[in-house]
Amino acid sequence: MASVTLSLRHALSVLTLSLFAWFVYLRISEHTATLSKRTVPESEMKFGGNQNPKNLRGRQHVLSRSAFASPTTDPETCVTLECQMPPENRFDCARDRTLSRAECEARGCCYVPLSDGVSGGPPWCFYPPSYPGYKMGPLSPTPRGQTATLTRSTPSYLPRDISTLRLEVMAETEGRLHVTLKDPASPRYEVPLSVAQSNKNTATQDTLYSTEFLPDPFGFIVRRKSNGRVLVNTTVAPLLFADQYLQLSTSLPSALVSGLGEHYTPLTLDINWTRISLWNRDMAPHSDANLYGSHPFYLVQEGDGLAHGVFLLNSNAMEVALQPTPALTWVAIGGVLDLYVFLGPDPQSVVQQYHQVIGYPMMPPYWSLGFHLCRWGYPTTNATRAVVQRMHAANFPLDVQWNDLDYADKRRVFTFDPQRFGDLPAMVKEFHQEGLKYILILDPGISSASPPGSYRPFDEGLQRGVFIKNATGQPLIGKVWPGPTAFPDFTNPETRSWWEDNIRDFHSKVPFDGLWIDMNEPASFVQGSVDGCPDSDLESPPFVPGVIGGSLSSGTLCMSGQQNLSSHYNLHNLYGLMEASATHSALVKVRGSRPFVLSRSSFPGLGRFSGHWTGDVRSDWEQLRYSIPGILLFGLYGVPLVGADVCGFGGDTTEELCVRWTQLGAFYPFMRNHNDKPNMPQEPYVFGQQAQAAMRSAVTLRYSLLPLLYTLFHHAHTSASTVARPLFLEFPSDPNCQTIDRQFLWGSSLLVSPVLEQGAVELAAYFPPGIWYSLHDGQPFYSRGQYLLLPAPLDTINVHVREGHVIPQQEPAPTTSASRSKPFLLTVALSEGGWARGELFWDDGDSLDTFEKGDYSYVIFIVGQAELVSQPIKINGALDGLLLGGVRVFGVPTPPRDVRANGEKVKDFSYRSDTKVLTVSGLTLPMAEAFTVQWTL
Ligand code: NOJ
Repeated sequence: MASVTLSLRHALSVLTLSLFAWFVYLRISEHTATLSKRTVPESEMKFGGNQNPKNLRGRQHVLSRSAFASPTTDPETCVTLECQMPPENRFDCARDRTLSRAECEARGCCYVPLSDGVSGGPPWCFYPPSYPGYKMGPLSPTPRGQTATLTRSTPSYLPRDISTLRLEVMAETEGRLHVTLKDPASPRYEVPLSVAQSNKNTATQDTLYSTEFLPDPFGFIVRRKSNGRVLVNTTVAPLLFADQYLQLSTSLPSALVSGLGEHYTPLTLDINWTRISLWNRDMAPHSDANLYGSHPFYLVQEGDGLAHGVFLLNSNAMEVALQPTPALTWVAIGGVLDLYVFLGPDPQSVVQQYHQVIGYPMMPPYWSLGFHLCRWGYPTTNATRAVVQRMHAANFPLDVQWNDLDYADKRRVFTFDPQRFGDLPAMVKEFHQEGLKYILILDPGISSASPPGSYRPFDEGLQRGVFIKNATGQPLIGKVWPGPTAFPDFTNPETRSWWEDNIRDFHSKVPFDGLWIDMNEPASFVQGSVDGCPDSDLESPPFVPGVIGGSLSSGTLCMSGQQNLSSHYNLHNLYGLMEASATHSALVKVRGSRPFVLSRSSFPGLGRFSGHWTGDVRSDWEQLRYSIPGILLFGLYGVPLVGADVCGFGGDTTEELCVRWTQLGAFYPFMRNHNDKPNMPQEPYVFGQQAQAAMRSAVTLRYSLLPLLYTLFHHAHTSASTVARPLFLEFPSDPNCQTIDRQFLWGSSLLVSPVLEQGAVELAAYFPPGIWYSLHDGQPFYSRGQYLLLPAPLDTINVHVREGHVIPQQEPAPTTSASRSKPFLLTVALSEGGWARGELFWDDGDSLDTFEKGDYSYVIFIVGQAELVSQPIKINGALDGLLLGGVRVFGVPTPPRDVRANGEKVKDFSYRSDTKVLTVSGLTLPMAEAFTVQWTL
């Protein structure tokens, strides 16, 4: 009997152990591994399967702290059973530092070394599923959704846990869920970003998502209603919320994650134990470094054409960990958890939903889409004039000439050097007479070392209290180009008005057309300040994300710097955004026309005020190639006006690289050739004739396409569509497009396939299914969704038009002010059935808020049954006098017998039967009026 009892007991304990281990495994892998492979509809979910949250909740009560306190151990491995989980499912319990077994276990975590322990792989110290967390009280309704109180009774291992939290869940729109976790007792710092364009006040019933809450430990799950897919599941690891450490993990339904910039990465991130830091930093782009901007937003392609996005609105230093579970962990070292989930359901809708929160991008002035030329090291006005003259002499289009810091007297902003740039105002006026625009650099650092009375921006700034203060209340002094500098605090309204006064005053002398705000992370060449930084929790928080330099104040200001709104610790990542906003609004007031601002530092919302360039890229082939994901990602971040320095900034370029970069740059939404001081010149005219011809033709091609580009910017501004667009956004269901970032689209119609390798004269380009016509000669390619080897000699950039689209073009000219009055040309790419459509947005290109005021023209072009019809939807004076000069129709099956414009026979047309292209020229149809062009087959 005794032996029977014993063996029964043994059997029972084995059963208990197995059930327990099974539960541990289920809990950690809930919805992750399975869902990355297949989507399970709600109806298919069975009790006992790992899809049922009720099941999970039921079991939740089984698990208690006591289960963890008396662990059951596997006799063979001596590992506590709940610590047995696949390594990829482990969530790091020691992000702050390496822990010994004893230290790890003192945190209540599992310590299981891996024999093949590669550094950067799965953690050895990780949370057990029973790690104590917050307990959620009952959910109660609010006008905007639901709320509950969370309480933590067992302290975490972090200093200053916030043990009571208020959860708010707001179903803001059909596709947008907003979840916040805050301290109800004492308000903490929150990002001052007002939700830009949304109806967030009433709870929406009819949503694309459902939510489930696990009360103990607290966690939540967000599902896509249509297919039951779990998009967010925070139950996979504990929620931590201490004063300087906020951590939230989630499973991901797929490994295709894009975003979390600004970094030097491909379009989709490596999720194999990657740690990404978000902390704005003056740092030339290279891998594994936090760069100039912070964008705590990711988009996940779910693998079947659907996509969702998540935005953590938090400006504190952050680390985001990706792991192959697949899963993601946010760690922010301050603020609150303010999380948005965007349900798409397609990737372009995710981007739109995100931009509804951060604000739609501004409409750039038309001239800013032309070619810009800059370098550090034009030493005088005459040298700058000579550059413009040589550009003209070599017949290169040029819209905007720039000066870097060279112009400034002793490198102090708002001044110009009386000797070398003494006639700067005259030079700018000359440029204006030639139809050019002029931009100069404006760093935020204000020189603090000039004798009192000799430098007004500092003297007045001091008097008006506009500078960031150090811990003792004195202006914090760092070091930038002019030497010791103070830093304007753009969160102070007085600073904004002082900034505007300085811009107005300087503009009254030098009538510049736009401002280039550089070094605004803010960058400083001394760590913290010239006097160092005081010892404090802000300077040395319990956890420092893996930032370059190892310290938050490396390359910037002390974290204890005092700003009007909060400490620099909280506001650092917003510095460039706030400066861009102040600069944009100053330009509106001072110039009264559409502002142009180019900012290096960025944060969500920057696109409302500014464009961005990708900083100090090296002149090499790898950086050329990575510039594509760089610009595509900024499109997702709501900053469509973006480009990399054409031909590269750091180091000498080569002729071939510069040609290829100019070809690619012709399709950056923002195109500027810019060069570092010590380098050999790289203006287009310095190269050999063949190279010059190739560059000229690329830039000229861009100019001919500006009506399309401008129309795309209009759509970005009014409906948050992207300008330079990743293929996956346009073809979400084509698995071949998921990671393509060596090619991209302009809008939905043009496919750009640049050469990115030295010596290459051909390239394999992917074409999604359909007909694609060479923009150059209309040669069609009928793709089944395949790669095609394209010839790409040095004078060629491959651009293809997608069937079904009409591309508005204009005859190119040396400047946009000239090209804007040239005849239009329509390129029609017929679909298999002979259809196409396109549109043109047109206004004066420079006035403020033309769309908002209704002061624009909008024309739709529809093609079908061998007829092109223009439909002026809205007409103002801007199109007056502008003519349609010609039409190219790609894909005309047989030679037309005749061509008629508005019913009248046209003589000037030709047809090529090899390419099936009809070319009609010599038209003079007013663009402001409806017209038809027919061809008789
Ligand atoms: C750094 C900027 O990134 C670069 O473009 C500029 O030329 C230098 N600062 C000098 O102003």
